[in-house]
Amino acid sequence: MHGLTGTGWFFLIFGWGFILTLTIYCFYRVLFGKKQHVVVEAGGREQWGSRIGLILAVAGNAIGLGNFLRFPVKAAANGGGAFMIPYFVAFLLLGIPMMWVEWTIGRMGGAHGHGTTPGMLDLLWKKAPSKYLGALGIVIPFIIVVYYNFIESWCLGYSWFSVTGKYFGHANREAMGQFLRGFQGIESNAFFSGLGPVLIFWFITIGLNFYFLYKGISKGIEVLAKYGMPLLFIFGIVLAVRVLTLGTPDPAQPELSIANGMGYIWNPDFSRLGSASVWLVAAGQIFFTLSLGQGIINTYASYVRENQDITLNGITTASTNEFAEVVLGGTIAIPVAVAFFGLTETQTIAQGGAFNLGFQALPVIFQKIPLGQIFGGMWFFLLFIAGITSSVAMTQPAIAFLEDEFKWKRQKAVIVVFSVLVTLSAMVIAFFRFGFLDELDFWAGTFGLVVFAAIEIILFSWVFGLKKGWQEMHKGADLKVPGVFKFILTYVTPVYLLVMLAIWTYQDAVKEFLMTGKDAANRPYLWGARIMIALVVLVMCLLIRGAWRKKKAAAVEGAEAKTV
Ligand code: ALA
Repeated sequence: MHGLTGTGWFFLIFGWGFILTLTIYCFYRVLFGKKQHVVVEAGGREQWGSRIGLILAVAGNAIGLGNFLRFPVKAAANGGGAFMIPYFVAFLLLGIPMMWVEWTIGRMGGAHGHGTTPGMLDLLWKKAPSKYLGALGIVIPFIIVVYYNFIESWCLGYSWFSVTGKYFGHANREAMGQFLRGFQGIESNAFFSGLGPVLIFWFITIGLNFYFLYKGISKGIEVLAKYGMPLLFIFGIVLAVRVLTLGTPDPAQPELSIANGMGYIWNPDFSRLGSASVWLVAAGQIFFTLSLGQGIINTYASYVRENQDITLNGITTASTNEFAEVVLGGTIAIPVAVAFFGLTETQTIAQGGAFNLGFQALPVIFQKIPLGQIFGGMWFFLLFIAGITSSVAMTQPAIAFLEDEFKWKRQKAVIVVFSVLVTLSAMVIAFFRFGFLDELDFWAGTFGLVVFAAIEIILFSWVFGLKKGWQEMHKGADLKVPGVFKFILTYVTPVYLLVMLAIWTYQDAVKEFLMTGKDAANRPYLWGARIMIALVVLVMCLLIRGAWRKKKAAAVEGAEAKTV
């Protein structure tokens, strides 16, 4: 391969150009268009402190490990530049419309005192099952965060190990694989002999998550985003520039170059477009990266006031996420891996998954470049910020539910939610080596999202009705959504989602359910993970029933008091 081909350049310029133009346009309108002054209200539900704080918080919610690890691996493994075609199609037909739908459902729920999807879906469809379907918008992010916090703590740990040079002096993938497995507690080796170190970083991670959530929406989550997101972008840009200026690290091996790495990401392989799986992977990535189908955009949007814009805010956060993903995420990990390991080995690493790339291959490279300890520290700290701004978002729905539906004080809700979270996460750590985390990730983090998004779009466009939905979306809007999205929201997005769901159920979910190809010794643990999910769903449904009964009893009492 000789760097970027003509069509590779075309896709690169088109992809970057599209994202940069959209992002600049959105921020221009946000900063210089009609201004909205938001005031934190005393009493009632919490509110975001400022519009920019809200945008950064929702962008932080969306920008996560998926942008920097999952995206480059998927793009490189599914046709490079050609992957950008199904990816952008999914962004336009699924990502942007669902973003607007979740913001709309969320703000509408918040106006009625509901910060989570049981109450929100109940507003869309006044029938008993709707609130139970809404349970998924709390259970899915909660199950994800149970394991996401653990991965987040690896990022913090590796940032520390980079700066202190703990893994330096072992510049090969085998040694770094051992280092990772030792740290994760999978094996005891020369680097680590127990779970102690990982538990320390996990406690710090949980402690920080607890702190920001305990402080609340504007004083906790928003403050985290206001400091964290600029830092993430500075680190991301510094790392991307560093990678792009690496050229050919070893002049004796000219094929190992950044140009070839960029070519690997962007040179299109059109033959891949005929494969349904490439289209599904692209759509799945759009969902994961934009934090859709998890109820977490809804919850953040519930703290927006009823007459405050959501259309411009929605697309601004989506395009900011895409900037972090396509421009920064696509430029760092894969190109640098090609420049040091070559194309064939990078392909093998990418097939081994995002963790192998991030935690095994890149630490080798940091040992080979000048100031590698600093760049390594920046890379892993960037991942940590990306992680924590997403994990607080995933924990918030469970807290908001207790606050809104049971009128608990935030502090009490945070303590209770974290007690459960820590208990369940401890199981993930203890059973990690048996595939416990992957099992949770499949059902909640891959399959669950699409199921829940399909429920949301059908209830929004068909049951509630797009006419009302459209009006709701445009209350206080700073941006008029193009009329063609009426058609997209009514037909294209629901059909796209249902087809995806049907194929996934057929191809993956059935196989996964039957544990095809799974090690027999691990099966009891995988069943344990499923039982955990089932119990969380059950508890959530019971809580929903309890809350609604209580509210009904209070309403009857109120009516009786009036008539007396
Ligand atoms: N949207 C988050 C990510 O990309 C979950 O990691």
